[in-house]
Amino acid sequence: MKIAAFCGSFRKKGNTATALARILKGASDAGAETELFFLGDYEIKPCRGCKVCEQTHQCIIKDDMGPIHQAIEQCDAIVVGTPTYYGDITGLFKNYVDRNYPFIEVVAKDNQSKELVFGSILKKVKPGMMVAVSGGMGEEIFGCHRKVVRYHFNDINAYLYKELLLPFTTWTEFDEHHEKWDEAYALGQVLVSRVLEGDHPRVINEIS
Ligand SMILES: Cc1cc2nc3c(=O)[nH]c(=O)nc-3n(C[C@H](O)[C@H](O)[C@H](O)COP(=O)(O)O)c2cc1C
Repeated sequence: MKIAAFCGSFRKKGNTATALARILKGASDAGAETELFFLGDYEIKPCRGCKVCEQTHQCIIKDDMGPIHQAIEQCDAIVVGTPTYYGDITGLFKNYVDRNYPFIEVVAKDNQSKELVFGSILKKVKPGMMVAVSGGMGEEIFGCHRKVVRYHFNDINAYLYKELLLPFTTWTEFDEHHEKWDEAYALGQVLVSRVLEGDHPRVINEIS
């Protein structure tokens, strides 16, 4: 079983990175093969909206998205994390989300209406987790993060199974004994159980 995690913070010792690493530690101790991708290590250019990938499912931009796409295709579960920048997800994380558009499958809802339904070309359903971090804002701000993660998960046939929310970090790193790290570790173990159960809901998100 493969679990991939994607970190939307450049800070490798920051709270987002630590939370993801702890979740993966719980998962690997439960038997999963895990990999943590620091998105900041990859060149991820912004989506140009050319829509070529709607037909080809390939992106025309030449950069480092290849291994990221491959990891998403191959994993059985996914964990994504992003801090809050100006009341929203980071630019780094947004570029990552937008550049996964090649995985979508656009279909007309019916013959009459012009409404579109966005599904995924990936057929394996994956449980997903979200880590969201903020310096001074409360959990209510994470609605922004949740909305984008749900769109992203829709594109890759994943569903938001659990969240780890870290509000009020006061812009500093939690120490290594912080209770949230135990929660993160337990979530990693729960994620492995979820994959093994295999009882996934059908992912239906009609986003127009
Ligand atoms: C450019 C920038 C903008 C930020 N904007 C916010 C914000 O709007 N609200 C907030 O609560 N924290 C904000 N923060 C604080 C970060 O969310 C916080 O420090 C978080 O712990 C960073 O995550 P990391 O340690 O994983 O990098 C901002 C930090 C930076 C660098």
